[in-house]
Amino acid sequence: MLTLESLFAGYGDATVLDDCSLSMRDGESVALLGRNGVGKSSLLLTIMGHTRLRAGSMRWRGQDLAQIPVHARARAGLGWVPQEREVFPSLTVEENLTVTALPGKWNLAAIYGLFPRLRERRKNFGNQLSGGEQQMLAIGRALMADPKIILLDEPSMGLAPVIVLEVFNIIRRLKEAGITLLLVEQFAKSALEVADYAYVMEHGGIAVEGTPDELNNNEKVLAAYLG
Ligand SMILES: Nc1ncnc2c1ncn2[C@@H]1O[C@H](COP(=O)(O)OP(=O)(O)OP(=O)(O)O)[C@@H](O)[C@H]1O
Ligand SMILES: [Mg+2]
Repeated sequence: MLTLESLFAGYGDATVLDDCSLSMRDGESVALLGRNGVGKSSLLLTIMGHTRLRAGSMRWRGQDLAQIPVHARARAGLGWVPQEREVFPSLTVEENLTVTALPGKWNLAAIYGLFPRLRERRKNFGNQLSGGEQQMLAIGRALMADPKIILLDEPSMGLAPVIVLEVFNIIRRLKEAGITLLLVEQFAKSALEVADYAYVMEHGGIAVEGTPDELNNNEKVLAAYLG
């Protein structure tokens, strides 16, 4: 469904992704792990077209992704929840959900079914939400564009432990709904519990890959790359 081959990409003259390859099948949940600054967010940004791609190929559902204009990538089925969440502060919850919506199976009723809290807060402005609510809203907004894949960048970042558990429950429900997921996470153990397959990044490339069982049973990998 998504195949990235030998990507070299970065910002300005700086190269961050250094020979990075990854592939995902339809319906698969893939965890992308690694320490701070190894290039996880940059990989998602590259898929969305927000870095300078120097070399390599990206294929998305049989198409050359580089040929899909950046503004058309959401419509092409790529959903992205950035690390900064980027909830619109001066729009209400409901406006945040509908402003970038595209026709599909996810409408307001479905989102409120998944996140009852957002229904309660639907008249609140984006800047009147807790961190957990903002994360739900960012995921809900991505779903409203009817994505075939969701690129989730550290959804649990900065959240209280009880909310982190809630976020992982949401991730499980997205998985059950058949959504293909590429999940960037610092909580490696939790990510490996929901993932079908995992990649560990180091210095802009993939250092290790395998099933969650393979990675969990490799203490050396866990110690060296995940801490
Ligand atoms: N907009 C940018 N301009 C220049 N350099 C950047 C930019 N964004 C990230 N970088 C650099 O690219 C490298 C990889 O950053 P990236 O954000 O992709 O890492 P990450 O694995 O997502 O880290 P974290 O776990 O802290 O989110 C870092 O050295 C960072 O300083
Ligand atoms: Mg990041």
